[in-house]
Amino acid sequence: MGNILVSAHNSPHFFQVIKYWGKRDTGLILPTNDSLSVTLSQDILHSKTTISAAKEYTGDRLWLNGKEEDITKNKRMHNCFRETRALRKQLEEEAAQRNETLEPLSTYHVHVCSENNFPTAAGLASSASGLAALVFTLAKLFDLPNNMSELSRIARQGSGSACRSLFGGFVAWEMGSNADGSDSLAVQVAPETHWPELEALICVVSDAKKGTSSTEGMQHTVNTSPLLQHRIKEVVPARMAEMTKAIQNKDFQSFADLTMKDSNQFHAVCLDTTPPIFYLNDVSRAIIRIVTEYNNSSPDGKLKAAYTFDAGPNAVIYAPKENMREIIQLIAHYFPGSSDTYFVDHYKLFESTSDVRSN
Ligand code: ADP
Ligand code: DP6
Ligand code: CO
Repeated sequence: MGNILVSAHNSPHFFQVIKYWGKRDTGLILPTNDSLSVTLSQDILHSKTTISAAKEYTGDRLWLNGKEEDITKNKRMHNCFRETRALRKQLEEEAAQRNETLEPLSTYHVHVCSENNFPTAAGLASSASGLAALVFTLAKLFDLPNNMSELSRIARQGSGSACRSLFGGFVAWEMGSNADGSDSLAVQVAPETHWPELEALICVVSDAKKGTSSTEGMQHTVNTSPLLQHRIKEVVPARMAEMTKAIQNKDFQSFADLTMKDSNQFHAVCLDTTPPIFYLNDVSRAIIRIVTEYNNSSPDGKLKAAYTFDAGPNAVIYAPKENMREIIQLIAHYFPGSSDTYFVDHYKLFESTSDVRSN
């Protein structure tokens, strides 16, 4: 029996508008609060993952961006292998009861080959698209039912942010309350096509690997930040409801206001961590000033753009399509020459659907 190969693309979330930062259970990856992100069109930034399974393989292996990584201690990838194999095993058993034979893929090792077409571990959510692509591709390989909620529970155990990246459009991760994590999963708030006038400008300020990984950083925050307790109890629940409403009503004023406030509070809880975590740099702060000035110059007092930063210095600026040209000119004016230290481009959201090939 030859190898069985499947490959798939997956987008990162671009970007969280209500931030995930903190776990109440680090093993199952259960968060301290709900969060919400926008998934970018897959043609632009993606992880492309190909997986093969074969009887002859002697271990599970990963090649990431062309280089083999040692995954023997990578508990999160093994969570994804274990959970998808368990579902495959059920299918194999059900088939046996019908006197049919399914290739016993649940017992084979896999070789995973994945490439991100954007910087890895730089705060551009590579773990979200990478682990979502892993689970999605395993599900194709194992011929699992196309149940995205179930898959999102599995992707969550690979990287929290990955549970949202299985869906397009505007996606919430509901923290859930069950101790076993059965209700901690992603749901789509609105599809890709919902708000075509909304665009995102991604400013890659640095592609260097960040000093503090998201996983490590957020647990320091949980253990030391008093501000995080206020955030998760008093701020996020109301903000999630308001953000959901703003998205449903395509209300850019509320969307922009909440997005910037949540980014600011996320970076404030990082600063409130002992020792403090700094993800923003001077260029990030200059972008915040430029967007603030731009909004202050609005003749009718309305917000024209919103910035947000995840766990890294790279910015995403959301704005209605009609303002994008002006914003790009403004960024180009303040950062002439660009490209060695930063790169600015204009990406349109919500363009494509999934591209899954299997052979
Ligand atoms: P980011 O801000 O890029 O999400 P994280 O610190 O959260 O940074 O996660 C980075 C880690 O995610 C990488 O070191 C790697 O272990 C994992 N990862 C990233 N991309 C992939 C991928 N395509 N396939 C498998 N694992 C990946
Ligand atoms: C600011 O999903 O990368 O929300 O669940 O430990 O894998 P783990 O963390 P991760 O955290 C996301 C942090 C963030 C977005 C980001 O920078 O990826
Ligand atoms: Co991440």
